[in-house]
Amino acid sequence: MITTLSDFNIRHLNTFRMNVSVGKLIEYTSATDLPAVFLEVGDAPYLSIGAGSNLLFLGDYPGVLLHSGILDIEMVNESDSTVLVRAGSGIEMDKLIEQTCQGGLWGLENLSGIPGEVGASAVQNVGAYGVEVKDVIKEVECYDTLEKRFVVMPVSECHYGYRTSVFKRPDLKNRYVITHVTYRLSRFPCPVLTYGNLKSRFAIGETLTPEMIRNTIRSIRDEKLPSVELFGSAGSFFKNPVVSQTDYDSFVNRIADIFGQEIVPPAYKVNDRYKLSAAWLIDQTGLKGLSHKGAATWHTQPLVIINKSGKASPSDILELETIIIRKVQDLFGITLSPEVEHIYPTFQS
Ligand code: EPU
Repeated sequence: MITTLSDFNIRHLNTFRMNVSVGKLIEYTSATDLPAVFLEVGDAPYLSIGAGSNLLFLGDYPGVLLHSGILDIEMVNESDSTVLVRAGSGIEMDKLIEQTCQGGLWGLENLSGIPGEVGASAVQNVGAYGVEVKDVIKEVECYDTLEKRFVVMPVSECHYGYRTSVFKRPDLKNRYVITHVTYRLSRFPCPVLTYGNLKSRFAIGETLTPEMIRNTIRSIRDEKLPSVELFGSAGSFFKNPVVSQTDYDSFVNRIADIFGQEIVPPAYKVNDRYKLSAAWLIDQTGLKGLSHKGAATWHTQPLVIINKSGKASPSDILELETIIIRKVQDLFGITLSPEVEHIYPTFQS
């Protein structure tokens, strides 16, 4: 079924809770609706979104917003140890995870509490607590808007990286509309407890279930991250910067000059590069908890920018973003890049 709404306010379709409207919102409930949806879109500019949990609308969007309402879930045994879970792109990721954890299936539990829907999470390669969704994706089904046919992309063709995929490549952006994602989950325990002090939350030798890990992750997130019911936000606003060995060495020297040798900044080696902590960098600039007009950085996780007043304008958020980037750049020589996608009121995005 296809539903079309014109000049529609999408406050409920962006987790920053911005009061912006779109020229047209088209929601569809089946993959087979897509050819007709694109006949309706015609030559108009369009944007496919999930729950809008990683978007910052910088004003009214005059084009067409497409939103999947594909909600079917199918689970089939692949082998004695693995189950394939095929989920519609419009399903809330956390609802799916609740279901797979209740079913005793391993693989998605560390991603509990991540806002967003199945389709968008496969575009963004969402990750948390040592797991990225790519680790359990088998394949992604899409409608190819150029060739006007349905395609199945095995995970190897999705070119996943840190918060990126083939679906974000500038030349392919908007070409594929994800309809379903198939995950390969395990019946046998395979807990991932490598992140931070996650392991210390469980007793040594304790028999774990996916639900136990889910509950623990949810309470860690509740301690650190703002609830979207209370404050609009888009989770981490910035990506953790990944730098070369040379840039890492100059960064470490700069830290030693500023703070003295005893400060060791958090950093993780990823192949021949270093992933730095954007939260730490922002924290050290003293911008944690800073309010700027209607926006603020979250007081326990400064990587998150919130709509503090509930009435923050896009420019309040944009100005705070600029303040943070400049200050981190001035102090540490590191340029932060937003993880949140900026949607411009014109058609430049
Ligand atoms: N830190 C500080 N000050 C703070 C908070 C954190 O210095 O106030 C430092 C600490 O050193 C801490 C480190 O930052 O050890 C890392 O913090 P955290 O564990 O919260 O992780 P993160 O790197 O800041 C990433 C993801 C989050 C994900 C967490 C947990 C990105 C951009 N963000 O944050 O994802 O939940 O790891 O795995 O990679 C999201 O993408 O929206 C998101 C919330």
